[in-house]
Amino acid sequence: MHDPNVLISLLCTLVLLHALHASSKDSDPLILGCGLGEGGGKDGDGRQWLPDNKYVSGGNSITSKASFQDPSLLSEVPYMSARIFTSEATYKFPVQTDKRYWLRLHFYPSVYDSYDPSNSYFSVTANEVTLLSNFSAAITCQALSQAYLDREYSLAPLNSDTLTLVFKPSDKHNGAFAFVNGIQLIQMPEIFDSASLVGYNDQTVDAKSLHFQTMFRLNVGGQYISPNQDSGLSRMWYDDTPYIYGAATGVTNQAAKDVKIDYQSMPQYIAPSSIYSTSRSMGNNKDINMGYNLTWIFQVDPNSMYLTRLHFCDYYYSKVNQIVFDIFVNNQTAQAQADVIGWTGGKGVPTYKDYVVYVQDSVGEDQLWLALHPAPDTKPEFYDALLNGVEIFKLNDTNLSGPNPQPSDMMVEHEVKERKFEDKETHYSKTFVIGGAAGSVVGVALVAAICIVVHKRKKRSPGSYSLNSSWLPLYGNTHTSGNSKSTISGKSTVGSSNLSAMAQGLCRYFSLQEMKQATKNFDESNVIGVGGFGKVYKGVIDNGFKVAVKRSNPQSEQGVNEFQTEIEMLSKLRHKHLVSLIGFCEEGEEMCLVYDFMALGTMREHLYKGNKPTSTLSWKQRLEICIGAARGLHYLHTGAKYTIIHRDVKTTNILLDENFVAKVSDFGLSKTGPNMNQGHVSTVVKGSFGYLDPEYFRRQQLTEKSDVYSFGVVLFEALCARPVLNPSLPKEQVSLAEWAMLCKRKGTLEDIIDPSLKGKINPESLKKFIDTAEKCLSDHGLDRPSMNDLCWNLEFALNLQENPDGSPPSSSHVVECELEEVSLKDHNNDEMAAHYKNLSLGSEHDDSQESSENSTDIFSQIVNPKGR
Ligand SMILES: *[C@@H]1O[C@H](CO)[C@@H](O)[C@H](O)[C@H]1NC(C)=O
Ligand SMILES: *[C@@H]1O[C@H](CO)[C@@H](O)[C@H](O)[C@H]1NC(C)=O
Ligand SMILES: *[C@@H]1O[C@H](CO)[C@@H](O)[C@H](O)[C@H]1NC(C)=O
Ligand SMILES: *[C@@H]1O[C@H](CO)[C@@H](O)[C@H](O)[C@H]1NC(C)=O
Ligand SMILES: *[C@@H]1O[C@H](CO)[C@@H](O)[C@H](O)[C@H]1NC(C)=O
Repeated sequence: MHDPNVLISLLCTLVLLHALHASSKDSDPLILGCGLGEGGGKDGDGRQWLPDNKYVSGGNSITSKASFQDPSLLSEVPYMSARIFTSEATYKFPVQTDKRYWLRLHFYPSVYDSYDPSNSYFSVTANEVTLLSNFSAAITCQALSQAYLDREYSLAPLNSDTLTLVFKPSDKHNGAFAFVNGIQLIQMPEIFDSASLVGYNDQTVDAKSLHFQTMFRLNVGGQYISPNQDSGLSRMWYDDTPYIYGAATGVTNQAAKDVKIDYQSMPQYIAPSSIYSTSRSMGNNKDINMGYNLTWIFQVDPNSMYLTRLHFCDYYYSKVNQIVFDIFVNNQTAQAQADVIGWTGGKGVPTYKDYVVYVQDSVGEDQLWLALHPAPDTKPEFYDALLNGVEIFKLNDTNLSGPNPQPSDMMVEHEVKERKFEDKETHYSKTFVIGGAAGSVVGVALVAAICIVVHKRKKRSPGSYSLNSSWLPLYGNTHTSGNSKSTISGKSTVGSSNLSAMAQGLCRYFSLQEMKQATKNFDESNVIGVGGFGKVYKGVIDNGFKVAVKRSNPQSEQGVNEFQTEIEMLSKLRHKHLVSLIGFCEEGEEMCLVYDFMALGTMREHLYKGNKPTSTLSWKQRLEICIGAARGLHYLHTGAKYTIIHRDVKTTNILLDENFVAKVSDFGLSKTGPNMNQGHVSTVVKGSFGYLDPEYFRRQQLTEKSDVYSFGVVLFEALCARPVLNPSLPKEQVSLAEWAMLCKRKGTLEDIIDPSLKGKINPESLKKFIDTAEKCLSDHGLDRPSMNDLCWNLEFALNLQENPDGSPPSSSHVVECELEEVSLKDHNNDEMAAHYKNLSLGSEHDDSQESSENSTDIFSQIVNPKGR
């Protein structure tokens, strides 16, 4: 006899299973690569993207491939294929009526067949919600200086079982079309609730019923987090440094390895633990902290509500009233006396707070300011403030669209020039070669060397490229004056209208008078270098703070471009291993860039002079310099909002401060991504001979692996202390890269090592170093390591040198210190000394280092007594 209960429960299970199965269909994420063929494709993170054709209807839709792959694209999928609509078209997706969804739209404004992205204006609606109107992906990307664009929306329950996504070309523009490269629709938990309205006591906004557009999502004090590394909601978290206001960037720190992030009742999907285990705080000096606000500035659309979600976790302190601070949003107090431990109850416990502000619709009101300041009233133990993560969402119930941003004049001008120049390049080629060769003896030697190298390579890979005008001229141009006059308009007022608002906000402006004063009227005796841009002077500002002033040669077109690129780029980049831009001057024809002064000059001058090794650097010092430079480049490649390729990595672009800390400099040639003239595939090879990636030569396609190749040459330079090109040597030895590789193959590499290092390198360390350098010089970019692998391998080589007996690596960098304006004047103050110790500032350096390098000494290395 069967027990009827068993039957019933079996039936129930079946029904339940069936229900589960049905519902799981609607809640499965949809990740669609628009225009992808049968089978779809995988992105750089290994995520599978499916074709979109099942879901789309109406309109004249065409699928097409982008005509140009921008080097900053993370992967081909989903950006290189698109669906193009010349009339209104609809996607229909099944959804659950009561669930919140992520909707992510991906756009890569490239030329598709005959469709030019500058003609694309369109609207997108999701059921009744307007997501985009009169949207131009090309203009938006140009303004953001990005090649592609990801829009993320979080849609509140739509009370419908279908999400209808409508793409409609604008009828205000002749020949307008719509396009999309990727669509993601992912069910998500309800992560919003009611939030307090800043400036209105006890008023709250019910965020549950509102639709959101993600404006910013930042891992404060940390690095980029990819969708795969997120805690289940496939979000991207970016580095916060580009958004910090002014030079007061505070310090970043990281939880010690043994601290576990304890979520308690908070769901882990709120944010991954990598958000909570890094943070930014103000620094260690009470007086300095009391004197400034740690401030982030965000560009937003006016006339809208924004929800600012702040993530906190104190993984260092554990008591109430140790750090207490005020939080300001748009200059209004959002939270007085925030005490993270007071909120969470303990060390390592994360929490978040939501604040809503309304951003007005009036001139200049398109920014959202977030500022932190110590709150002294409760007499906390430390006058400091702390933040781990920020998310900023735009909220609305019907319309999330905003106007297209306005690209800065500078960006527009820069692009027009680049385009003009590329058109002219063939025409100019001869002049440049002759000009370069006749210029100096070095020029002749260089051209000779180039010919040898090129000749040799040609034999190896016949027909892959030829010595024609397509790549030489631009190199010539970096060393000769351009023929056309500088076109920057003479502006003598403070600030430069050619620069984006952000760059202006982040940079200090100097008057010409100040520049003259700093450099003794540009006295020749203060010249410390000469580049394509002009002369570089040593200078002193603010009664004693040393700077390097790069003064443009007004005759040089290269100068104008480099000047603008450097300000735009450097003002947004801050890293311990990048040379910081302090400010700029632009008055009439005069243009100057002001940098931190690097007391010890270039890495090269510490290795050799002329053709003779002169180095007194120990192996350990060389490794540390290489590691520092590798970290700086790693940051350029991955730490910023988009991949930045340096393009001219060489030992004269690696500078040393007074403590031999390496800093990467000279971003004048850097490539950030925007390339609006995609129809015109870039044939411009920039960089320096001896360091140039052969693959870049061949395919004329730039990737960050080209920097890795150049860095491999730098590694051999550090090891061998000789020039990368030395035409006076026998043919096979002219190029260091080729000679080193040949010696490696023959097993004779030991013979060409800098004699001053002989016998002083641990053999294991040397082996690791050489293997690493060799991999960098692989013929194919794919076979070369990433900068991150490089850092790791070089640290390993350092460790083998330091601890040859194989003891474990000393504790790795707990604190990556970026502070630049901390004064130690009163470091006998006990309170502060305690604070230092707590921040374990020494840990970037090995514990095994000289005992004199205790934490305060290391701290003093980065002291700028004046502050800026
Ligand atoms: C929603 O968007 C519309 C149109 O942009 C705007 O006028 C309105 O103020 C917004 N509402 C809120 C609550 O932000
Ligand atoms: C906040 O204050 C700063 C400095 O006083 C000012 O420049 C800025 O415009 C203000 N921001 C807003 C959104 O009011
Ligand atoms: C910090 O910001 C608040 C709000 O804008 C402002 O009142 C205060 O003066 C600022 N403090 C400093 C030191 O800049
Ligand atoms: C949505 O808001 C934008 C910008 O405020 C406006 O231009 C557009 O007309 C609005 N669309 C609708 C359907 O309300
Ligand atoms: C659409 O956007 C463009 C570029 O931002 C702008 O010039 C134009 O006036 C806008 N058109 C409408 C109808 O809003």
